[in-house]
Amino acid sequence: MFPHLLSPVRIGTLELRNRIAMSPMGVEIVDDDGVLRERMIRYYEERARGGAGLVISEVAAIAYPRGATTAHQIAISDDRYLPGLAELARRVHAHGAKLALQLVHHGKVSRLDQKQGRELLMPSEPRWHGAMDMARDLTREELGAMIAASGGAPPKIRVATREDIAWLVDRFADAAERARRAGADAVELHAGHGYILSEFLSPAWNHRDDEYGGPVENRARLLQEVIRACKQRAGEDFPVWCRLDAVELRTPDGIRFEDAQRTAELAEAAGADAIHVSAYADSTSGPAFTEAPLVHRESGYVGYAEGIKRRVRVPVIAVGRIEFELADRLIAEGRADVVAMARKHLADAELGRKLAAGRPQDVRPCVYCYTCVAQPFFDRRVRCAVNPVTANEIDLAMLERAKAATPRRVLVVGGGPAGLEAARVAARRGHSVTLCERADVLGGALRLAARTYEPNARLLRWLEAQVRDLGVSVRLRATVTPALARELAPDVVVVATGARRDRPSLPGAELPHVLTGDDLARVLASDDPPVGARVAIVGAALAGVSLAELLRARGREVTLLDEGPTLGAAMAHPRRWRALADLREQGVALVANARVRVIGAKSLHAVVEEKVAARELEIAADHVIWLAGWTGDAALAESLRAEGVAPALVIGDAGGVGYLEGAIHSGFHAAIRI
Ligand SMILES: Cc1cc2nc3c(=O)[nH]c(=O)nc-3n(C[C@H](O)[C@H](O)[C@H](O)COP(=O)(O)O)c2cc1C
Repeated sequence: MFPHLLSPVRIGTLELRNRIAMSPMGVEIVDDDGVLRERMIRYYEERARGGAGLVISEVAAIAYPRGATTAHQIAISDDRYLPGLAELARRVHAHGAKLALQLVHHGKVSRLDQKQGRELLMPSEPRWHGAMDMARDLTREELGAMIAASGGAPPKIRVATREDIAWLVDRFADAAERARRAGADAVELHAGHGYILSEFLSPAWNHRDDEYGGPVENRARLLQEVIRACKQRAGEDFPVWCRLDAVELRTPDGIRFEDAQRTAELAEAAGADAIHVSAYADSTSGPAFTEAPLVHRESGYVGYAEGIKRRVRVPVIAVGRIEFELADRLIAEGRADVVAMARKHLADAELGRKLAAGRPQDVRPCVYCYTCVAQPFFDRRVRCAVNPVTANEIDLAMLERAKAATPRRVLVVGGGPAGLEAARVAARRGHSVTLCERADVLGGALRLAARTYEPNARLLRWLEAQVRDLGVSVRLRATVTPALARELAPDVVVVATGARRDRPSLPGAELPHVLTGDDLARVLASDDPPVGARVAIVGAALAGVSLAELLRARGREVTLLDEGPTLGAAMAHPRRWRALADLREQGVALVANARVRVIGAKSLHAVVEEKVAARELEIAADHVIWLAGWTGDAALAESLRAEGVAPALVIGDAGGVGYLEGAIHSGFHAAIRI
């Protein structure tokens, strides 16, 4: 399996055991002084141990705190950072992987400079400021946290002088030399994503009239100088490569692919040992973010990697939501040499090792929910919705792997994501686990979510298979009562019975065309749900937004309403940006601050709070799908406790609606406590 992806490869003098790279990710695990300590080292070590051939670090700041985007990023600007960097290299090497440090000056995106009152270094005065539509669809809390991350003061720009350019070249070279002294195997120059090197490359940001501006050969001059200087200082044999944007989307005069191809040639001519092909889009625009660099479309940049590979002789690293089968094929067909994976490595640190063992089905799938990347916007540590160990390796990695001191009999009640995760982790830790599910299939709320969003289906299949392989005894159509629980005689009960999804109490709620709770499973069972031409969905959490997408795609006229001011507030904001932009484009009517008052046979009556006054709204609807007002439901736990059956832990939506991340994390944490 995957013979090409798993075959060794050389980048310059660097030999990799396979062609799987952990793509660079700024994860804000470092404390606020740029120093690498155990928490961050363990995060990387788990990925090296997990089988990646190449670990590329997050953005390491070459002039920290200058040119940094957060205080919580790796610094590589001084020898006081050497011990941490050296320990990182040692620990990555101990597992047979290689380490490249990604070097950066963030240019116009140096939030830390802005926060600390310094000027932002740019090639020239900006003539365009971006679409600036990020605030749309954010909650007030999110907007506040984002502003706080940059300090909120308007940015001051410093146009790079000759001295600044010389200083930049020197800082990059100094960092490359330090990387080598630390024992790292290579450096990747970040020449993409709107940071300083890419600003020079981009005609949208570079309006200089000296030899660093104008034609692409001039715009690439700084990158070439940096590559040469890094080689000179760190040694010609030390691998140095760059990450480039193949395109700069939604940006007037942004980088075009032809420019990127030429830049790749120029980088190679200056000595680059590889080209890593990413992309960028207007960073002031919300929906743009999921086009680049966090591409939502599967294998969205593969064509770019291929197009650059045709123009250079050095290896090309491809990235962008690339699945394993395709990764193998890209290499087999000579369309890329190494495949970098970012989000997949957060979801499963062991993906390389599992592929090498011929068990791709064991890799926990990323669900592309954007929980991870939402956090750095707020200057907060990364989280993974499906992998609670991510960023907590120091505390949790061993606990998850270790066997429990005393094997127990565990009864898990409810086979949704929380129950499945609790059963999985408890069984893995050596407990004897029985899982009872009232329905005739596993999945609970995740089964609904899987019908509207395919990556969720992969996660459900993974959870089901893991639970089965670990020998959990699964009983379907089994409603647990205190009597049944007593009969099963568990030492511990884990209650994962999900949320209550009651009918609302308002006039018309009992009408047959109002669908809620368990009706939904029936409605979603068929590919084209049996609902009329006009559908009103009440409740715009994840389920409501996904269902609106699905029904619109099936040709329905859809109105999506929510009581709150931000639709999709429960989704991580990058995914919300994307989803709401798509819904608007597809003509779904979105109504925030809406309180439904009455449901009629063919319409629904709501009151919408607006800035000045409330407005009455009549919405035509053949069906009303009610997804609002879900509440936790710990009734079973209470009756088990009252009857003294066994200690009961409540997890998932039963303990308060927490969606997928809440479900998985609470299931995991319950299981490691047993
Ligand atoms: C949490 C997070 C942080 C990221 N930080 C960086 C970074 O520091 N440097 C960088 O070049 N790309 C960064 N990226 C982009 C990834 O390296 C990668 O290009 C992108 O996620 C697409 O790959 P994927 O589909 O495999 O996730 C980040 C992505 C994520 C999810």
